[in-house]
This record gives sequence, structure tokens and C-alpha cells, in this order.
Amino acid sequence: MTTGYTVPQLRAAVADAVRAPSLHNTQPWRFRLHDGGIEVAVDPLRGLPATDPSGWGARIACGAALFNLRLALAVAGTPATVRLRPYPGDPDVVARLVPDVPRRPTPTEQSLYAAIARRFSNRAPFWPDPVPAEARWRLGEAARAEQCWLELVIGTSAVNALAEVARSAHRVLERDPAYVAERVEWIRSEPSPDGVPAAAGGPQSEPQDLLPQRGFGGRNRAPGRDFEPEPLVAVLGTPGNTATDQVVAGQALQRVLLTATDAGLSVSMLSQPIEVPAAREALRLSLGRFGTPQMVMRVGYGQPGRATPRRPVDQVLDLPVVPA
Ligand SMILES: Cc1cc2nc3c(=O)[nH]c(=O)nc-3n(C[C@H](O)[C@H](O)[C@H](O)COP(=O)(O)O)c2cc1C
Repeated sequence: MTTGYTVPQLRAAVADAVRAPSLHNTQPWRFRLHDGGIEVAVDPLRGLPATDPSGWGARIACGAALFNLRLALAVAGTPATVRLRPYPGDPDVVARLVPDVPRRPTPTEQSLYAAIARRFSNRAPFWPDPVPAEARWRLGEAARAEQCWLELVIGTSAVNALAEVARSAHRVLERDPAYVAERVEWIRSEPSPDGVPAAAGGPQSEPQDLLPQRGFGGRNRAPGRDFEPEPLVAVLGTPGNTATDQVVAGQALQRVLLTATDAGLSVSMLSQPIEVPAAREALRLSLGRFGTPQMVMRVGYGQPGRATPRRPVDQVLDLPVVPA
């Protein structure tokens, strides 16, 4: 098929793409139609200079949005061939999607697509029930299908070691006033199309917590409502750590998150140990893995919750100007 995507196809797919997660729900992406291809770009106006000076988080978010876009196009019967970072002179463009041969979506594409609207970051305590082996295997397969690895951190001493690295990274970040100012700036106590609603922020952290929670102004914790004592922690990683690897990691992250949602699991993300270079290196060494950790996740059975808001599609599209 040589004809390109149309504006209605772009709009429909972007409505799903924007459901992807992003640091502080900044939604740092733009989408456009260019020579019949859909292009995804980092939006430099929605960066977090103190929290994400290298642009790692924005590329992860754009990669996750790209995965949703791929699913949406496939489920609509118009799957895409993807080229990552197609223009060396314009590194903000993370991907270009052109139509591939039309085909029916696979059952996996259909079930992952159906999970897009149900997924959300669940920062509340999970039930203590263990995640079954079959679901753990599916999460690893999801990462591998997108050329990444997923390490499940098993056993009290391994989880404690990771938690120590995460807590020290959290302390380092919280000592930086510019980082704290950005975090606070993106907390929303009133309805808003971006930022983290205080209601989604999870409970306030307490000294007995194993893993550090980023403070998003969550509510006080009811007595006896501590976090699960043995969380399932998963680390997603890539063989390399180029900007392209980070876009790959974003796609894998979203595939893991949607696979978890499809399996009835909840996930919250913890990126403090990724954002502090020394912590990331300590994490890499403790895992004994070749490559680079890109995200830490807590996985388990959570209580129901709600998806957080997104900006309208029109605000993230760059459409060609049609001459009057
Ligand atoms: C790169 C990246 C890093 C993130 N880091 C954290 C984190 O450290 N703590 C946290 O609670 N959520 C983290 N999140 C989740 C975002 O806050 C969340 O995706 C966003 O608020 C939108 O909410 P949703 O996931 O419920 O759609 C991260 C997300 C991304 C993509």
C-alpha cells in the first residue's frame, strides 16, 4: 500500500496515543502528518529541565505514546512500519510511521489495545496476594517482544538492596530545590488536563515505607493501610542507552504496562533510581545485567482507580495549513 495515512486516521490514533504515561503527566509529545506518514516528536516546550535534563523521560513517554499509536493503527486494520529517529538533523522526531500492508489485528494487539483506556498508575498499597508465575512470565515476554529485558527482583534481600538504592536517590533529588519546585508545580488540586491530580498521588509516605513515593500531595494514610510487605519489583532495561534505545524502552514500558493491565494487575512507576546517575549504576551492578535500567515498577493487585486527564487531541497535533 503506497497511499498515506489521513487526518481522520491520525486523529483517531492520537486519541489513544495520548493515554500513555509521562513524567508528572507533562505529556511531552506532538504528532503530525508529513508526506503520508504519522510523525511523533518530543515537545521541547513541555520538558522538565530540573527533573529530566537529558530528555530521557520525554523520550520514554514518546516511546510509550508510539506503542499506543502502533496498536491503534493495527487494530484499525492499517498497521504501520516504524522508523525510529528518522531525521538525524531533527532528533526531536522520535518516529515516523508509514502504512504497511493492511491486515487483521492479532488477538494480542486487540487485548493490549483494549487495556489502553483501563491503565493508570496505581500508587496506593496493593493486596498482599502474589503475582502468579504465568503473569510474571507474560510481563517478561512483553519486554522481550520490544527488544528489552525485564528483571523481576525476587527475595527479601534483593528487594531491600534495590529499595536502599531507590531511597538514597530519592533523598538526593529532594535536596535539589529546582527539582522539588517542578514536582510541586505539576501537582493538581483542581481539575486540569495535565499534571498529577492529588487524588491519584497515592497516600502520604511514612517512615516505615520500603520504597520511596514521589510526593504528589496524596491523602493521609488510614491506620493499618501500609504498603504490601513484599512488593513485586520489576526493572525494565535496554542493551544500550542511546536516545533511540530510550524510545525503544518507552515502547517496551507501555507493552509491559498494558500486559499487566490485561492480566488484572496494577503498576506504579519509580524512576528516582534511574534519574540519579550513581543510583542507576548501582542498580545496574546489583542486577548483574548487561545494559541500562530504564524504569523501576511495583506490580501487584490493586484497588480500582481512575485514569488521569489528558489534553485534547487538537492541542497535540501539528496539522498542515490548508490554503483558503
Ligand atoms: C519516564 C516516567 C517516569 C515516571 N516516574 C514516576 C515516579 O517516579 N513516581 C510516580 O509515582 N510516577 C511516575 N511516573 C508515572 C507518571 O507520573 C504518570 O504516568 C502520569 O502522572 C500520568 O498518569 P497515569 O500513568 O495514571 O496515566 C513516571 C512516568 C514516566 C513515563
